[in-house]
Amino acid sequence: MTVPSNFDGNTKNAKLLGWVEEMAALCKPDAIYWADGSQEEYDRLMSEMEARGVAIRLNPEKRPNSFLFRSDPRDVARVEQRTFICSVNKNDAGPTNNWADPVEMRAKLNGLFDGCMRGRTMYVIPFSMGPLGSRIAHIGVEISDSPYVVCSMRIMTRMGQKVLEILGDDGFFVPCLHSVGAPLVDGAEDVAWPCDPENTHISHFPEERLIMSYGSGYGGNALLGKKCFALRIASVMARDEGWMAEHMLIVGVESPNCEKTYVAAAFPSACGKTNFAMLVPPAGFEGWKVYTVGDDIAWIKPGEDGRLYAINPEAGFFGVAPGTSYNTNPNAMNSMLENAIFTNVALTDDGDVWWEGMTKEIPEHLIDWKGNDWTPDSRAPAAHPNARFASPASQCPTIDPDWENPKGVPISAFLFGGRMSKNMPLVYQAFNWTHGVYSAATMGSEATAAAVGQAAMRRDPMAMLPFCGYNMADYFTHWLNIGRKIPNPPRIFRVNWFRKDELGKFIWPGFGENMRVLKWIIDRVHGRGFALESPVGWMPQHEDLPWQGLDFDPQRFYELMMIERDAAALEAHAHEELFDRFFDRLPKEFIFERELLRSRLWRSPEVWELAQERA
Ligand code: GTP
Ligand code: SPV
Ligand code: MN
Repeated sequence: MTVPSNFDGNTKNAKLLGWVEEMAALCKPDAIYWADGSQEEYDRLMSEMEARGVAIRLNPEKRPNSFLFRSDPRDVARVEQRTFICSVNKNDAGPTNNWADPVEMRAKLNGLFDGCMRGRTMYVIPFSMGPLGSRIAHIGVEISDSPYVVCSMRIMTRMGQKVLEILGDDGFFVPCLHSVGAPLVDGAEDVAWPCDPENTHISHFPEERLIMSYGSGYGGNALLGKKCFALRIASVMARDEGWMAEHMLIVGVESPNCEKTYVAAAFPSACGKTNFAMLVPPAGFEGWKVYTVGDDIAWIKPGEDGRLYAINPEAGFFGVAPGTSYNTNPNAMNSMLENAIFTNVALTDDGDVWWEGMTKEIPEHLIDWKGNDWTPDSRAPAAHPNARFASPASQCPTIDPDWENPKGVPISAFLFGGRMSKNMPLVYQAFNWTHGVYSAATMGSEATAAAVGQAAMRRDPMAMLPFCGYNMADYFTHWLNIGRKIPNPPRIFRVNWFRKDELGKFIWPGFGENMRVLKWIIDRVHGRGFALESPVGWMPQHEDLPWQGLDFDPQRFYELMMIERDAAALEAHAHEELFDRFFDRLPKEFIFERELLRSRLWRSPEVWELAQERA
């Protein structure tokens, strides 16, 4: 049986050729297509999808070369319950991951993938995570039956023939198998967004460095270079090889006297990485520039000079659309003016896109993300809350001149922040590396629950809970080891833009105003800024932050920074709950850090009584 293929000797990599042949035999596509990554190919695939009603070409005058896709309403986000780490030993996946036995999972997936591409084309998509040829970059090859994935991967990664040239005859790559899980058999008609939600499995085989994803065409489930490779598999490679794969944005801050400082920041999904990565300095910060290196993932490796160097493994942004506007994030808006792919946003009558929060005026009429008529009276949102734009990073007006530097950029600070409406100050600096790693490991974020005002906190260590491909306790140990191996590790900070007052209003204006915190952090990194020692870490006083251009009341600042001692003690106590799950794998340093924190927070019964009398 030979399947028609455009293969013309474009690689001699035996492992790749063998794998493609094997996967073709399993998935039984009608044709095999090796993607070359050219513009011509992208345009052709898009035109084909447009002709089939799968893609909607946006008004070329308003948004040249841009397309809208609408997913199946059952396939709108990553699905953590269906994401598996299939390590040989269950303990190597750890208590925070869904583990599945690799032999059983392979058997199940072989059943699902058998014949799953009938009636479809199997695309072979070679891609590089990171600048081509960088010592921090790695190559993957995705096999997919989705042309939407091919086009998205061209935006999100360096993709195509040039990657095969770097790969060479015996280079290493991560095989990433993907199918939407909807074979076209017995003359079945295709649909606009094929998927198989009931059988969705996003499986990772860390020992084999292999990814198999079945049933979903959306985001991180399908663009396998992103969360599956660049975080879950890469975190395992990083552990084994002494580097780091993190859910972090990277920014470069340049002061008026041209001092450039790079920081990386981990915030959980939908907690403001894209915004912070493209921060616009507010009034009073004339002469300051913030440059974007990446908005979601950082790969970080110790350099010969003992500093940590970071690259953005991606080549595009896959950002949350709702809430993005010229007010909140003009650089993101300007990144998607052309050559963009939109998924699950609304369509305007003049063929452009819209989503909640994009403009003050709400359009009179739209086609919503489900393809139905929509007016301001409609109850449901016009765009899905997880609607996304994909756009080339090179189109970002603030893209850093060194964003494609194969060496990476030197990182001076790590920031960690979730969504915390109470008990977590705007910013503090960890006392040292170990304390910082502990602070990052205990971070949490509130998932806005359905009940109004109800906020349930979920612990999300380093914003990596859904993305660490191995036992999280070993990941903590890896972090501790990285700090030990280098002479002067980056300073570590906790931040929180999301604290609320009793009325439920954000106390901190956020967005561009976060520059004030960033400036203090940079001063601290360079040994300049002032801070007061508190039980949780080093904290700025009101007068230590720069306030030019903003009138922010010291009392309000106190409200933002204050931690109630007893609440903090309870919080420290609650860390036990997180750590007990890891049992004997937990680094012993964490036990010490918790006890140190508790003792710093402790007050004698006499002092406690006195405090109560005063209250
Ligand atoms: P993923 O792409 O899912 O990893 O998420 P992300 O971290 O890049 O999230 P994104 O930047 O898209 O977060 C968007 C949400 O955070 C929106 O609801 C924004 O309004 C909100 N947001 C971003 N920055 C701030 C801020 O400084 N203050 C407040 N209050 N909200 C913010
Ligand atoms: C996230 O969920 O953190 C994302 C979106 O960045 S996705 O790529 O779909 O995982
Ligand atoms: Mn993310």
